[in-house]
Amino acid sequence: MAEQLVTSTSGDKATRYQVLLPQLQALIESESDLVANLSNIAAALRQGMNFFWVGFYLVKGKQLVLGPFQGPVACTRIDFGRGVCGSAWKDKQTIIVPDVDQFPGHIACSSESKSEIVLPAMVNGEVSMVLDVDSQHLNDFDDIDAHYLGQVIKLIEKMSLTASAQ
Ligand code: SME
Repeated sequence: MAEQLVTSTSGDKATRYQVLLPQLQALIESESDLVANLSNIAAALRQGMNFFWVGFYLVKGKQLVLGPFQGPVACTRIDFGRGVCGSAWKDKQTIIVPDVDQFPGHIACSSESKSEIVLPAMVNGEVSMVLDVDSQHLNDFDDIDAHYLGQVIKLIEKMSLTASAQ
């Protein structure tokens, strides 16, 4: 796979996701290392969707620990059930937060972050990591993001079953 990402400048975010997804699949298919793949996914999502912050928190024991990401430096550890990420882990569900100031217990890694979406990835019925995306704008995530980022999660879940490092 050539390390050249094709991005769309369309004003329609579904189109931008559609351009990215097959490329993410190709990136993952040709590499079996988990960290390498998560790193490229974070970079591709940042490049293709222009996210403020995008990255992974990996389940390690009773905490989420910061994994590959793109954006400003972030909190390194999040307890089960804490913040948006810990809640998505606990509930095993995608959480969209239109205004982070209205989410009880939101963990502010950056004061610039205004809205957020977090999706859990499941392996053998348990959450193995979460994908977290932050925006500098209020109300920036909706069902379209949940749908397409959910497709990214499916790729990761498939890969996680065979990846060489976890
Ligand atoms: N806001 C998240 C913490 C992670 S950062 O946004 C990168 C939360 O409340 O879980």
